[in-house]
Amino acid sequence: MLSKKLADALNKQIGIEFYSSNLYLQMSAWADQQGLEGCASFLRAHAAEEMTHMARVFDYILEAGNLAEVGPIDGPPTNFDSAGKLFAQAYEHEKEVTAAIGNLVELCMEEKDFTTLNFLQWFVSEQREEEALYRTILDKFELIGTDGHGLFFIDREIGALRAGEAPPAA
Ligand code: FEO
Repeated sequence: MLSKKLADALNKQIGIEFYSSNLYLQMSAWADQQGLEGCASFLRAHAAEEMTHMARVFDYILEAGNLAEVGPIDGPPTNFDSAGKLFAQAYEHEKEVTAAIGNLVELCMEEKDFTTLNFLQWFVSEQREEEALYRTILDKFELIGTDGHGLFFIDREIGALRAGEAPPAA
């Protein structure tokens, strides 16, 4: 059984992962409307991945014998101005998620809950990967630029990232 404090904090993480999923889903809709098919499919896949993060926390709370709670979830923004700004926002969001995981780790140490600390290690690694992924995408905007056909090539590369393929030769 988890302490009340830790169960509350993990339940809050359920909301954070749900929000992440909704944010990327909304971002994918925006990208689709801009004709950025690669970005849209990448973001759509990432929205689905966030749901698996939510489910991991949800299941862990249940397995521990506590009540998993789905609280209210804020709606994400709907307009992102530009693809570059959208991915900068996604990167900032992932940094916030990393900080939330860090707070959970800290709480586990305070409460000497080493089982949950162990459970959270997966999230610690995952956040490192997600931040690195968004940094890679932001580098593409920086290196290729969005003038001329730039955005077309960036969109193709991001679409390929989603499929786990090597970026196509420009
Ligand atoms: Fe589940 Fe991207 O944090």
